[in-house]
Amino acid sequence: MAQANKIALVTGGNRGLGKDMALSLARMGTDVVLTFNSNAAEADAVVSEIRALGARAAALRFDLTDITGLDGFVTQAQATIAEAFDGAERLDFLVNNAGIGRGIPLDAVTEADFDTFANVHFKGVFFLTQKVLRMMNDGGGVVFVTAAADRYNVPNYGLYASCKGAIEVFSRYVAKEYGPRGIRSNSVAPGGVATDFNGGFIRDNPGVQQMVISQTPMGRLADAHDIGGVVALLCSDDARWLTGQRLEATGGFNL
Ligand SMILES: NC(=O)c1ccc[n+]([C@@H]2O[C@H](COP(=O)([O-])OP(=O)(O)OC[C@H]3O[C@@H](n4cnc5c(N)ncnc54)[C@H](OP(=O)(O)O)[C@@H]3O)[C@@H](O)[C@H]2O)c1
Repeated sequence: MAQANKIALVTGGNRGLGKDMALSLARMGTDVVLTFNSNAAEADAVVSEIRALGARAAALRFDLTDITGLDGFVTQAQATIAEAFDGAERLDFLVNNAGIGRGIPLDAVTEADFDTFANVHFKGVFFLTQKVLRMMNDGGGVVFVTAAADRYNVPNYGLYASCKGAIEVFSRYVAKEYGPRGIRSNSVAPGGVATDFNGGFIRDNPGVQQMVISQTPMGRLADAHDIGGVVALLCSDDARWLTGQRLEATGGFNL
């Protein structure tokens, strides 16, 4: 699966699932631009880890809720790629990973909640992808990190999962429209992983962990690499015939 001289942009690569995605890509020899929203120190540490693996890396601040700032971010990303990767002008892979989680009963969802989730999980991802596709090499790919909760229902996740479902549909349209350029588009739908996500809801609740394990045929909780490895595979030549697909990475949860 080794793959040198490719460049990937991973949003939310400073911690959680995105950090493992960035490191898994680097282990294949792919150079990585990772974004963070609030935690620059964590992002710098991941950049150092990637460099220690022998790949090149840079970190950029990026806020998915700042829709009007998207053009500025893309311009900055282009400049960063040129500076960090010997004058490169284009990239090969976009991994849309960054996200937020919060359980809100449908009846309690406010318009502000709706706008925040829609911006982070749909509108921001939609327009970032549109703009990054313009600076992507033919033969590249997009990975959308969605959620298995768009197949099964998780209590109070109606708003979150609806946005992820929208992105899953968008992923298939990207596959259709950009396939002629050799660009593939797929979504990866994780189940619960014990990260900081949703205030550490899974990480900090042994009862929730037991429930997840009891409904997981593979008999354990996921770790970040269970997801990062799938994303790296999708960004490799071994996945060159995979496009328009939804890969559910849950160990079989709730089959
Ligand atoms: N963990 C799970 O159980 C699970 C299950 C299914 C799907 N997912 C999905 O997997 C993805 C990663 O989740 P995770 O578990 O790694 O979450 P996490 O540990 O909470 O990390 C979230 C990441 O997203 C970034 N981020 C948050 N708000 C942002 C914004 N407004 N703009 C740009 N970046 C922002 C954070 O940056 P800072 O640290 O700098 O704030 C951080 O890098 C998300 O899309 C999530 O929906 C997670």
